[in-house]
Amino acid sequence: MSEKVLVTGPFGQIGTDLVPELQKRHGKENVILLGHRHIPENFDGVIERGDVRNREDLRSLIEKYNITQIFHLASLLSATGEKNPQLAWDVNMNGLKNILDIASENDIKVFWASSIAVFGSTTPRDNTPQRTILEPTTMYGVTKLAGEMLCQYYFLKYCLDVRSVRYPGLISYKAEPGGGTTDYAVDIFYGAIMENKYTCFVREDTVLPMMYMDDAIRATLMIMEAEKEKIKIRTSYNLAAISFSAKELEEEIKKQMVDFSVEYEPDERQKIADSWPRTIDDSEARSDWGWRHEFDLGKMTKIMLEKLRGKLTAKK
Ligand code: SER
Repeated sequence: MSEKVLVTGPFGQIGTDLVPELQKRHGKENVILLGHRHIPENFDGVIERGDVRNREDLRSLIEKYNITQIFHLASLLSATGEKNPQLAWDVNMNGLKNILDIASENDIKVFWASSIAVFGSTTPRDNTPQRTILEPTTMYGVTKLAGEMLCQYYFLKYCLDVRSVRYPGLISYKAEPGGGTTDYAVDIFYGAIMENKYTCFVREDTVLPMMYMDDAIRATLMIMEAEKEKIKIRTSYNLAAISFSAKELEEEIKKQMVDFSVEYEPDERQKIADSWPRTIDDSEARSDWGWRHEFDLGKMTKIMLEKLRGKLTAKK
């Protein structure tokens, strides 16, 4: 049976890279994109306008297209969530609850994005285990933790096939990040190419788990395509690739751009960064469904500089 896929948050940081892969796999006509705001002009695909908070809109869309899989990515990120915690709760929680309810009524397989933000300052910060202290201090983290519990509940209670990973900071040249704490690891490349300098909003010794987007997309497709028995964790899997300090990233860029300079001016996002792990133990994703990352710091930096330079030059 061919799949009919619904993607929420299709034009966000992950969606921008995931949608073309899904379109390649299933055909453009079989990938339905639920857009709320910021719908790009001339986008080649099936776009429906709507809001994940509107349950009836979602239900009629899912019935109209006979959806068989949902990638639920629509979410406010950590820094934006701190600016508007009420909205973060509303979008992140009510959106997910609507998706889970309608998916379980219609036997739809669901992917949902969780995050390293489920961890907090009481969590062991190095090689953070899958099962550990979860006391997030951001509204974003609170919604991701509650969301994980909700996913597992729907799996246990209604046998809903819901799968999830805790993404680290994601680095891509395609979409600019929107309102996250890990955004500096993307912004720094724009600074390097456009101005040969960058002012970083976290301290130089800040180490966070990160991942090049191609790895993240591969992980997303791998977990969704794995046999059901292999998915043993129904909250969300730890997922890791590389960890580096802001200074190490600066030094890596300098290997190719010797005059590049960075100033460090930490703002309120430093507190969020300090509450998250430095490195993640993702051995269960590796053993349960065969996860392996491919991009290390050097490979990621090289490709980011090359591709982003190409993109920014083409825009001129
Ligand atoms: N990149 C996200 C953020 O910084 C983490 O999930 O909010």
